Amino acid sequence: MSGRTAAIIAAAGSGERFGADIPKALIQLLDRTLIEHAVAALAPVVDEIFITAPAGFEDQIRTLVGSDITVVTGGKTRSESIAIAVKAISHETEFVLVHDAARALASSDLARSVLSALASGEKCVIPVLPEVDTVKVISSDGFVQSTPDRSSLAKVQTPQGFSFATLLAAHKDGATATDDAALVEAMGVKVKTVSGEERALKITTPNDLHQALYFLTGSKTLRTGVGIDAHKFGSADRQLWLGTLLWPNEIGMDGHSDGDVAAHAICDALFAAAQLGDLGSNFGVDRPEYAGASGEKLLTEAVSKVSAAGFAISNISLQIIGNRPKIGSRRAEVIAALSKVLGGVPVSVSATTTDGMGLTGTGEGIAAIASALIYAR
Ligand code: CTP
Ligand code: MG
Repeated sequence: MSGRTAAIIAAAGSGERFGADIPKALIQLLDRTLIEHAVAALAPVVDEIFITAPAGFEDQIRTLVGSDITVVTGGKTRSESIAIAVKAISHETEFVLVHDAARALASSDLARSVLSALASGEKCVIPVLPEVDTVKVISSDGFVQSTPDRSSLAKVQTPQGFSFATLLAAHKDGATATDDAALVEAMGVKVKTVSGEERALKITTPNDLHQALYFLTGSKTLRTGVGIDAHKFGSADRQLWLGTLLWPNEIGMDGHSDGDVAAHAICDALFAAAQLGDLGSNFGVDRPEYAGASGEKLLTEAVSKVSAAGFAISNISLQIIGNRPKIGSRRAEVIAALSKVLGGVPVSVSATTTDGMGLTGTGEGIAAIASALIYAR
């Protein structure tokens, strides 16, 4: 392929049907957002990438995707967004892929297959999958009007490919359609199909995100681990460190480390999930560099060991067990602090007392139990 290639990734939608309080392109799927997944697939295949961002989220997307990518503010409709991005593309460009961030898992190979059909002379190329359901045309009053022959129907995906001149012409009058190929069809230009792929599904609802997760992880690459830690309260002059935070006016734990049971339990859960031993075997007494280390330092080390073993963290769930301190009012702070140390992954934090019984119900100390879900990269 000789000519210069560009890709537009449409990401300016609000994701209304998904129902999150952030735009759909910024939804996290394992270790990265949907827009980052889409960029990762197209970056190896094209020379230049343009992203249409929802107004107000341009800088956030720039920070995620880096400065080599051009981020423009999208329009009210998808077609309007694409038309805005088309104007930013240099006229030396020969082929353009138009892709939806919502089809975050479309592969680099799919993009290559579209580009190679363009290189062989096609003006417009779209990936399609056969329609497996019988499809009916329904009138507005709820009656079937007709049943098109299923064998002639196909479901359409992105990235769709265009010669730059064709895409420019398709968008010059500001026409709208649910995909760009429809605008090309309306110009009377032939649209070529290539085989699409299941993993290029459009993520519209939370259920689609589960489907996408399955494509990323299969069933065997997920691992879970559990970790528990407990410490006794120390003397009245000890400071309390819990969940990597300092808790003023609370009594701290005994011992020479900061006694952060939450951080220690998470470390153990991570090591267990990755089959890397436990806190003792990784940071034991024979390792002077960890003597008296903070919970935050141990957690940072645990994350890098798990990552070096080829795993990424999916999420962490933590429960703190004890009469004091009361976690509720600082829950969001604990979640934010732990998530930051863990590389931004989702963390949940709950707390409980144990009705005056056993493990810390007697008020002698604090315990924590954590579970970690990780996956092979
Ligand atoms: N899109 C865009 N500009 C718009 C509307 C949509 O760039 N004004 C993008 C979306 O970000 C998405 C793609 O076009 O990647 C396909 O649209 P869709 O899946 O419908 O996403 P949303 O419009 O965000 O979702 P919803 O329709 O549920 O609000
Ligand atoms: Mg939409």
